Amino acid sequence: MENNNSAAEEISLDMLKNRLSRSRYEHTLRVLEAALELAEIYDADIGKVKKAAVLHDIAKNLEIEKIKNILRKSTWEIDELEWTLDSVLHAPAGAVIAKTELGIDDYEILEAIRYHTLGHPDMGLTAQIIYAADFIEAGRSFEGLTEIQKIVKENLVEGIYKITSNSIKYHLKLDNPIHSYTNNLRNKFLIKRSDI
Ligand SMILES: [Fe+2]
Ligand SMILES: [Fe+2]
Repeated sequence: MENNNSAAEEISLDMLKNRLSRSRYEHTLRVLEAALELAEIYDADIGKVKKAAVLHDIAKNLEIEKIKNILRKSTWEIDELEWTLDSVLHAPAGAVIAKTELGIDDYEILEAIRYHTLGHPDMGLTAQIIYAADFIEAGRSFEGLTEIQKIVKENLVEGIYKITSNSIKYHLKLDNPIHSYTNNLRNKFLIKRSDI
């Protein structure tokens, strides 16, 4: 038997270079760095966080028709609203690719990939870390980034509450729809946060 961890890591990084644009590849490496830092802080499973971070945007550079074809055959539920949001569909498609092409069977890794764009109120620690790392990676640039980076590292509940609030405000300004996953995630963490 090969050592699964090192084999998967090598294959994933090689594959990323072939499947992703240079900028998306570099983004992924920054997400990996942020995610590993959070995994240390919050005592998460480093191996799962690493795989989820490396693979989270694996479908990002595919054409939308290809993404939709992948999703038509998938068992992930895609509701009517999500189906109209082209920019988020690479997340569930990535989870399908991770499972069918790369043999990832672990639900925590798959849900981290699947929900990294919209979030989900029931997502576990690995998924919470990938969702946060994707938002705060060092190459991002938006007002308040430094503050959110600091909060995420101090308190993940507060950090995710801030991220969802920020994301919802951003989309409201653009008159975009707000998906219930993001709204429900914010509500759940808003309540958790006041319980602390
Ligand atoms: Fe993404
Ligand atoms: Fe990403």
